[in-house]
Amino acid sequence: MSGQHQTLGEFIIKNQSAFQYSSGELSSLLNSIRLAAKVVNHEVNKAGLVDIIGAAGDTNIQGEDQQKLDVYANEKFIQTMTKRNIVCGIASEEEDDFIAINSQDKNNGNKYVVLIDPLDGSSNIDVNVSVGTIFSIYRRVTPVGTPVTIDDFLQKGSEQVAAGYVVYGTSTMIVYTTGAGVNGFTLNPAIGSFYLSHPKMTFPEDGHIYSVNEGNYIHFPQGIKNYIKYCQQEEGDRPYTSRYIGSLVSDFHRNMIKGGIYLYPQSSKNPKGKLRLLYECNPIAFLAEQANGKSSDGFTRTLDVQPTELHERVPFICGSKNMVEKAEEFMRNAK
Ligand code: AHG
Ligand code: MN
Ligand code: MN
Repeated sequence: MSGQHQTLGEFIIKNQSAFQYSSGELSSLLNSIRLAAKVVNHEVNKAGLVDIIGAAGDTNIQGEDQQKLDVYANEKFIQTMTKRNIVCGIASEEEDDFIAINSQDKNNGNKYVVLIDPLDGSSNIDVNVSVGTIFSIYRRVTPVGTPVTIDDFLQKGSEQVAAGYVVYGTSTMIVYTTGAGVNGFTLNPAIGSFYLSHPKMTFPEDGHIYSVNEGNYIHFPQGIKNYIKYCQQEEGDRPYTSRYIGSLVSDFHRNMIKGGIYLYPQSSKNPKGKLRLLYECNPIAFLAEQANGKSSDGFTRTLDVQPTELHERVPFICGSKNMVEKAEEFMRNAK
């Protein structure tokens, strides 16, 4: 079958044997994410109708209260993975603590834990702007058949076995890696299948787009301020273009295709930045590196950071290799 018509389901099966720990379990897990993504996509597409549908009494047909989309997405992803019994633990940006799934059952051989940002860019839902879902998959470090512990979740990003995102944009796409490059699949809504549309995605080494919330400029460290001024200078191929959606997934997706850099630095208001290491930065950094890009906090590679808590935040600079290296140079020089 030609790549042009290959579905995500077919691609997962075909590439299963290439995966070093191949047992079919990771394939089932990716398939369940694919399924949950379709369910959430359906709901995201109706977001503009919520006021109209809810007008009858703010309850849906089953009599449940209308839910906020980030809560809905959280429930759908957790439900799908729990019901299919294919992971031993889940941590979510929307949950205070991690969830253990039959992990103490001796007959339960599930090896993987999933960390998820079920709805990324949620401030954009009400205004019909692209949002996303981000996921990150690790092998547990504690023995199979014992309860999962926090250590299973607090692993360095370099230990990820797979990571990806769904972008609910003008088209809905799943983009993921299992450590052998990055591939993107676009949903054909008429059929309900994802098709391989973006094989072997890579960042251009250089780019002309910088993405940062410049409203926070006054609070940024001097190195970032200097780098932003550099982006705006008239010299060579500069000034660069500024593009900031406010959904990490969408900003990253655009920069990977066109070439660019995304920055969410520390600031005097948020000394560790805003983005979460485990649910946002690590999976995106894994994808970036797999696509020939780069990711750091300005000094340290994102994937080398040892997490100490589930909801930890970290400054984040990610994108085209040469652009990230230039920003790092400005950080070093401003020290
Ligand atoms: P979430 O919706 O999961 O809380 O994440 C929002 C994040 C990220 O997607 C985005 O890039 C960033 O927050 C935007 O933050 P600002 O509004 O501070 O720019
Ligand atoms: Mn997010
Ligand atoms: Mn979120």
